Amino acid sequence: MIRNPTGGATPGAIVATLKAMTVGSPKARASFARGRCVRGTYIPSDRAEEITKSRSFTAASRVLARFSVDGGNPRMPGADDPVLRGFSFRLGDINHHSDILTQSAPIHYARTAAQMLAYLKARVPGPDGRPDPEKLRAFSAANSETLHQATYLAAHPLPASFADTTYWAVHAFPATNRSGETQFIKFKVVPVGSQAAPTEDTTETKPEGLLQDDLESRIAARDIRFSLMAVLGRAGDPLLDVTIRWPEEDHRETVRLGTIVITAIEANEACNASAFNPANLAEGIGYPPDEIFAVRRAAYTISRARRR
Ligand code: HEM
Repeated sequence: MIRNPTGGATPGAIVATLKAMTVGSPKARASFARGRCVRGTYIPSDRAEEITKSRSFTAASRVLARFSVDGGNPRMPGADDPVLRGFSFRLGDINHHSDILTQSAPIHYARTAAQMLAYLKARVPGPDGRPDPEKLRAFSAANSETLHQATYLAAHPLPASFADTTYWAVHAFPATNRSGETQFIKFKVVPVGSQAAPTEDTTETKPEGLLQDDLESRIAARDIRFSLMAVLGRAGDPLLDVTIRWPEEDHRETVRLGTIVITAIEANEACNASAFNPANLAEGIGYPPDEIFAVRRAAYTISRARRR
C-alpha cells in the first residue's frame, strides 16, 4: 500500500479546511478574505540587476496590488489567533510578471503541510462555536513552533495603517542575476518615509473598515510608497523551515530592488479577476525549496477554481 507521507494534508484538504473556517460568501478567498484592490507603478533601483535578471524586478512596470486582513475569525472567538495583514502585488509586463504575496510577519505558523492541517483542525469550532481549549493546548504543547508567529505578532504591535506596515514574503527565494550567480533572498516590503511609531492601535482594536478608510484617504491625499528589499542569505541559513527566521535577519545586508508606488484605488473586481498566485514568478527568481511553498503552488489554483 502506498502511504501518503503528509497524512492526508494535501493542498486540497488544506484549502477546504481554511475555507470551512472563513466567514463570507463561497466566492471569498480561503485566506486574507477581506481586502482592497489598488494600483500603481514599480520603479527598479540601479542595484536590482546585481540580484536578479528577472524582468519583473529590473524594469519599470504597472502594479496591481491588494491590501488585506486575515484572522480574527468571528466564528472562533476562543481561538484568540493574532490578526495578520497581507499585501499582494504583481510586477512586470504580461510576459514577465511575478506575484509576490506578503504578510505582516516574517514567519509562517507551520513548518509542514501535515502540521498546517493539524493546526487548522485544532481550531475548528465545536458545538459551542469555540475550539476545544484542551485540544488546542495539547496541539500547541506538542508543536511549539506553531506559536512562533503569534509570539512575534504579540511582541511587534502593528501600526494603525496598511501604509505604515512592514510585510515579508517569508520563504527563501533563489535569485539569479545576469552573470548566472544564484543566491537565496527574502523579500521585505518597507514603508518609505513613515514617521508612524507602532502603536497599540492594532487591527484587533481597529475595525477593518477603518483600515480601509485610512487607506483610501491616504491615497486620495498622496502616493503611498514602499521599498522592495532583498534580504541576502548566507551559507548555513535554514532554508526549509518557515517557522524560524535567519540568524540576525534584521541586521543582514539588504539590497533595495525598487520602489512600489501605490497611486490609486482599483475596483476590487480587478484583483478578483486576476488572482495573485505565488507560483507566478518570471525567470530570475525561482521557487523556494521548502515544503510549505510546494503546497502553496497548488493551493492557490485550487482556491481560485473553488470560488469562480
Ligand atoms: C507562508 C506565508 C504565506 C503568505 C505570506 C501568504 C499570503 C497570502 C496573501 C497575501 C493572500 C491574499 C491574496 C490576495 O490578495 O488575493 C493569500 C491568499 C491565500 N493563501 Fe496564503 N500565504 C501564506 C501561506 C499560505 C499557505 C501555506 C497556504 C496553504 C496551503 C495558503 C493558502 C492561501 C489561499 C488558498 C489563499 C486564497 C487564494 C485565492 O482564493 O485567490 N497560504 N495568502
